[in-house]
Amino acid sequence: MLTIGVDIGGTKVAAGVVDENGAIVENALRPTPADRPDLVAETVADVVKELSRGKDIEAVGVGAAGFVDETRSIVRFAPNLAWREEPLQKKITELIGLPVVVENDANAMAWAEARFGAGRGESHLVCVTVGTGIGGGIVIDGHLYRGRWGMGAELGHMQVVPEGRLCGCGNLGCWEQYASGNALVRETREIVANQPERATTLLGLAGETIEGEEVTEAARQGDEAALAAFASMADWLAQGMADLAAILDPGRFIVGGGVSRAADLFIDRTRETFARVLTGRGHRPVADIRLAELGASAGLVGAADLARRR
Ligand code: BGC
Ligand code: NA
Ligand code: ZN
Repeated sequence: MLTIGVDIGGTKVAAGVVDENGAIVENALRPTPADRPDLVAETVADVVKELSRGKDIEAVGVGAAGFVDETRSIVRFAPNLAWREEPLQKKITELIGLPVVVENDANAMAWAEARFGAGRGESHLVCVTVGTGIGGGIVIDGHLYRGRWGMGAELGHMQVVPEGRLCGCGNLGCWEQYASGNALVRETREIVANQPERATTLLGLAGETIEGEEVTEAARQGDEAALAAFASMADWLAQGMADLAAILDPGRFIVGGGVSRAADLFIDRTRETFARVLTGRGHRPVADIRLAELGASAGLVGAADLARRR
């Protein structure tokens, strides 16, 4: 039996028909109507209809970047998007007439990695997705941990700096303001503003404002400011994971999300810092820090598989 998984991103809606082994049979992309959150359900329904033509589809799983309620129906809050109390499941079901489950995007990715990717063979997993923000997923003994009200594993909103940078969630000092793609750009801009002499390569590459791809490219070419921003991101990432290890003691962390495509620029340092700051170091095993294996399709594959097990 086949299910469809849909991953709603900030710019693209990625969808795919997925079989019971996590393999994508067919896929399709649509632009996200980013300025009209009320139209996202229509976009999802549209792509699902296209993909289900001539196929027997059992259910649809939808990954969304926000706090999803315990009935897996409503996106109650999305720190980086305009959704508030959005009844996504109801809207999509009405449009397509198939069972729909809504999942947190990072939970969906973590599930896919646990079943079909970098998490195989390890029973205690914490998945950290580094993109615009930081998403989290916790899978223990084959079980996705959702918390009491569906909002567990919102790892990006642990406070790491008291009175720190303002987060999209309204709080100050959240982890995702220090270790995400947005954080990388923000940190770079601050370094460049104070010490432009360290950023000659970057300033040559960038236009009016510095963007993420330029920071990565400049770092690859040895730009000091860009490398310093990556080092800072690596350290913040490691410290957050060490704190998570103090609570959860996972055997493995999986690092995914868009920024992990530039993992060569931060993952070694993340591992080193993690081992250096971990509480009880020297008297405990050091969890493995691995890169995600399923790339950009992890979210849709996980959502599809979770819909199958609804
Ligand atoms: C949101 C999470 C989401 C993550 C990654 C965070 O800001 O709170 O719900 O999983 O970003 O998209
Ligand atoms: Na999550
Ligand atoms: Zn926050």
